[in-house]
Amino acid sequence: MIVLKLGGSVITEKDRAETLDGDALERATDAIAAALEAGLEDLVVVHGGGSFGHHNASEHGVSTTAGTHDASAVLEIHGAMKTLNRFVLSRLLERDVAAVPVHPFSAAHRDSEGRLELPTGQVETMLAEGFVPVLHGDLIAHAGAGATVVSGDELVTSLAGDLEADRVGLCSTVPGVLDGEDAVIDRIDEFDAVADVLGASDATDVTGGMAGKVQTLLDLEAEASIFGLEALESFLEGAEPGTTID
Ligand code: IPE
Repeated sequence: MIVLKLGGSVITEKDRAETLDGDALERATDAIAAALEAGLEDLVVVHGGGSFGHHNASEHGVSTTAGTHDASAVLEIHGAMKTLNRFVLSRLLERDVAAVPVHPFSAAHRDSEGRLELPTGQVETMLAEGFVPVLHGDLIAHAGAGATVVSGDELVTSLAGDLEADRVGLCSTVPGVLDGEDAVIDRIDEFDAVADVLGASDATDVTGGMAGKVQTLLDLEAEASIFGLEALESFLEGAEPGTTID
């Protein structure tokens, strides 16, 4: 089973509010459709927000830890993410991928320690029935804090662990994790070795940049890869493009 995240910055114009990167989304969905056609089974897709979630969330001061009790803010942020999810689903459906939505707001929550609780029965049943579940970064109810952001990366980690994924892919705007000379680092197996070269994400991003992604992926059982859009199809076909983290 593969859990694939399409970064929000890949499929949207991250610096322009609620703007899709239509060409990138077509390329991504072409690659997914081609891999499924070539025999890939059991794929879970998670997409980020890019310009569809982060702007609204930061306007309302909402992050993974700072919550809101304002229901209209919740609907605005969740609504933006559902709009983007709809675009992703329709591009997949156009390519005959049996993509179906899972909205984390209606499926998950955080406990009072901030831990994500995402039951997997829904996703497992969808997979068994031949669907491709498509989740997204979202807001979720958070005990003691109202509603906070759940990032696509957190969803990926949680699903990969609970569903015992074989592989995890993060399709990003960069071809991998870059070193000080902008060369792709082939393999990372401990954070300290790369801590110096990992900066924060440049555009508005309430859920952290590359450093956070690497840390999260190091904690996973499954082997994870960070790669660019051009390598998505080869990743789905079994190659290890970009940076491999384990
Ligand atoms: C963000 O999801 C969701 C919201 C801000 C509501 P992600 O944090 O996974 O999005 P990207 O991939 O970094 O854009």
